[in-house]
Amino acid sequence: MRQTKKNSALRNLDPSSAPSAKSRTPRIAIAIIAAGKGTRLKSKHPKVLHEVGGKPLLGHVIAAAMKVVSAQDVFAVIGHEADRVRQAVADTGVNFILQKEQRGTGHALMVAREPLTPYDQIIVLSGDAPLISPQTIQKLREFHASRHPAMTILTAQLHDPTGYGRVIRKGQENSDVKAIVEEKSATPVQRKIREINSGVYAFDAKLLFEHIDKLSSDNPHGEYYLTDMAAILVKAKQRVMAVAASDPHEILGSNTRAEMVDIDQRMRMAKCRQLMTEGVTIFYPQTCVIDWDVEIGPDTIVEPFVQILGKTRVGSDCRIRSYTVINNSVIGDGVFIRPACVLDEACVMKGAVLGPYSHLRPGSEIGEGAHVGNFVETKKTRLGRGSKANHLTYLGDAEIGEGVNIGAGTITCNYDGAHKHTTVIEDGVFIGSDSTLVAPVKVGKGAYVGAASCITDDVPPDSLAIGRAHQIVKEGWVKAKRAGRQKSEKPVLG
Ligand code: UD1
Ligand code: CA
Repeated sequence: MRQTKKNSALRNLDPSSAPSAKSRTPRIAIAIIAAGKGTRLKSKHPKVLHEVGGKPLLGHVIAAAMKVVSAQDVFAVIGHEADRVRQAVADTGVNFILQKEQRGTGHALMVAREPLTPYDQIIVLSGDAPLISPQTIQKLREFHASRHPAMTILTAQLHDPTGYGRVIRKGQENSDVKAIVEEKSATPVQRKIREINSGVYAFDAKLLFEHIDKLSSDNPHGEYYLTDMAAILVKAKQRVMAVAASDPHEILGSNTRAEMVDIDQRMRMAKCRQLMTEGVTIFYPQTCVIDWDVEIGPDTIVEPFVQILGKTRVGSDCRIRSYTVINNSVIGDGVFIRPACVLDEACVMKGAVLGPYSHLRPGSEIGEGAHVGNFVETKKTRLGRGSKANHLTYLGDAEIGEGVNIGAGTITCNYDGAHKHTTVIEDGVFIGSDSTLVAPVKVGKGAYVGAASCITDDVPPDSLAIGRAHQIVKEGWVKAKRAGRQKSEKPVLG
C-alpha cells in the first residue's frame, strides 16, 4: 500500500507523465434541459416536478446522470418556476443554468454556452424522459468518443412514433444522419419513419457552439429547435451519427398525463422485478405501489395492495399485509404488519407487531418486539422494547419504557388547547384500561394505574394510582323506581 503511494507521488513529480492536451481524457458535461412549462399537462406545477415512481421527473434524470459523471459536471437548465425546481433537487449538488425565456430546446443550450464551453463533450438529456439508464448514457458517451462525430443522436424504433421527431438517414439503416424532422413539419412519408429522436444527444462542444447561432425560429412553434443542429452540422460538412437505445422504452418522454402514468407503471413494475431478484416476494405486484427509492430486505413478503413510499427502508423477514401504506419510514427485520396500517415517518424495531389498523404518525418509535394493535394511534412517541398497546389508544408526545402494558382505551391528553406536553411512563408500568393521562405527567417504574383512572399527578414508582370516583351501589333502587314510576304514570295513562 505504502509502496503504491510513494510511486504515485513520484509519478506526479515527473514532468514527462503530465497529460498533454491531446492525450488527456475528454472532459464531459451532462446538460439536462428542464426549463419548459409542460403546457400539455394542463398543470399549475412545472412539468419536471411531476412525479413518477414517487420522485420528480428531473430527480430521476439527475440520478442517472450522476452515475456517469460527478455532480459538478451536471448542469440543469431551468426556467419555468425555476426557484421551485431548483429547491426540489438542490440536495443533489448539480449546477443550475437559468433560461429566463423558454424559446426552445436549442435556445436552452444557447444560454448554457458559457459554463459548457470548457468541456470537450456535452451529453444532452431531457428533463422529462426519466427512464433513461446510466448504461445507455454510458453507451452513447462511448460511441461518441470512439467515432468522433460532431453529434450523436440516441434513437429508438417505436411502434407508434406519433409526436416524436423522426430521424432522416442519409442512406440505408445505420448510415449517417441527414436531419431530424419534427412531427409538425414532417411530410406524410417522413411520418411513416419509426426511428425517432429521443431528445438525448452527445455533441462535440466546440462544434456545437461554433454552429449553434445558425439555429432559427422559423418553424411552426417559432422556437429554436435543438433538433435542427443535425442538418446545420451536416451542411457544415460535419458528421452526425445515431446510436440505438438498447431498450426503446427508456427514451419515452412524458408530455401528457397519460404518458406519465404509463412511465410510472413501467418504473414501478421494474422496481418490483428488481426487488424480487433481490429476494423479496411481492404478491400481485401490479396492485402494489412501491416508490423508486424504497429498499426492502430479502425474505420479506409484501401482500397485494400495499404502498411503500418515499425513502422507506424495510428489513428482511418482514410480512406486510394488504392495504398498508408506509411512507418515509424505517422498519427493522422480522416485523409483522397486519392489514391496513398507516405509517408516516415512523421507526419500527426488529420483531415488532403492528395492526390491524394501527396509525403511526411522524416521530413514532416502536421498540423491539413491541406490539401496537387495532385502532391505536401514536405520534412523537417512543414505545420501549416489548411494550404493548393493543387496542383503541392514543399515545402522543409520550416516552414509554420497556415491558409496559397500556390497557385498551388509554389516552395521553397531550394538548391543553395551546401547548403540547409530555407523558412519561417508565419501565414495567401497567396502565389499566380506559385511563386518561393528563400531561405533563409521569408514571414511575413498576407502578400500576387502576382502570378508568384520570391521572393528573405524578405516580411514584411501584405504587398503585386510582383516579376515579368511588362506585356507589344502591340496592333495590331500580325496583323502587319502577314501582314509583308505575304510581306516577297512572294519572297520565288514566
Ligand atoms: C423533443 C424533440 C423531439 C423528440 C422529443 C423526445 C425538439 C424540438 N424536439 O420534443 O424531436 O422526439 O423531444 O422526447 O427538441 N425545454 C427547455 N427549454 C425550452 C424548451 C424545452 O429546457 O425552451 C426542455 C423541456 O423542459 C423538456 C425538454 O426540453 O424537458 C424537451 O422539450 P419538449 O417541449 O418536451 O420537447 P418535445 O416536444 O417532447
Ligand atoms: Ca418531451
